[in-house]
Amino acid sequence: MDSALDWHTARALLEWQMELGVTETICDAPINRYELQAAAPKAKRQAEPDIPHKPKEVDPVEEARKAARSAGSLVALREAMAGFEHCDLKKGARNLVFADGQAGARVMIIGEAPGRDEDREGRPFVGRAGQLLDKMLAAIDLSRDSNVYITNVLPWRPPQNRDPLPVEIAMLKPFLQRHVELAQPEVVILMGNISCQAVLGRKGITRLRGNWDEAWGLPVLPMFHPAYLLRQAAAKRLAWADLLEVRARLGAAQ
Ligand code: URA
Repeated sequence: MDSALDWHTARALLEWQMELGVTETICDAPINRYELQAAAPKAKRQAEPDIPHKPKEVDPVEEARKAARSAGSLVALREAMAGFEHCDLKKGARNLVFADGQAGARVMIIGEAPGRDEDREGRPFVGRAGQLLDKMLAAIDLSRDSNVYITNVLPWRPPQNRDPLPVEIAMLKPFLQRHVELAQPEVVILMGNISCQAVLGRKGITRLRGNWDEAWGLPVLPMFHPAYLLRQAAAKRLAWADLLEVRARLGAAQ
């Protein structure tokens, strides 16, 4: 405090400070905290070792793995996927398209991704390709109402129905794997190239179709996608042969 102040002025100043909330005196000379603040970061930067201050990066694949692993039921898995915020497709989609049909069925079908109709309804294969799929299944006495379970590699519609990106497939694959584990099918049908790429790591449906393979310890059969069959009617003959393969496999396992 300035010693030149008279007693009355000093007391008035003190009372004013107490009114402002001062409860104790710490040092004789005032400290300008604004100056300190401006000076502090510079001094600190010089003193600290050169460690870049980066925000912790999240690995979406690892996050998906953790979320998928912790799901103990199909209901929990659906919730885990609905709460997964690392895939941008979710932002552009109207609905999560999780599955349709009978969980626990002997046959599980894995399609590609929802289209416009599926996005609107929140169910896989409900558009034109889905109607053809239902007819194909009916031809070998299968139906989503009684003995087939259906899902997709991606649960959200890609914009303009573009192909899923490898990064999207990688991010959502842990959920697909968990989906298969929890649904416990006996055989899996992979519809089209994207499903083969996601599950088998291989493309080339014309070569792959009709040949049994294995994934996650289960027999899997690649087939032409029904959307392809709508465009290439001549390929239906091969699809029929593949359906007969599925029927034979199910019959043999009974
Ligand atoms: N095509 C797919 O692969 N999945 C759907 O759900 C609809 C169309």
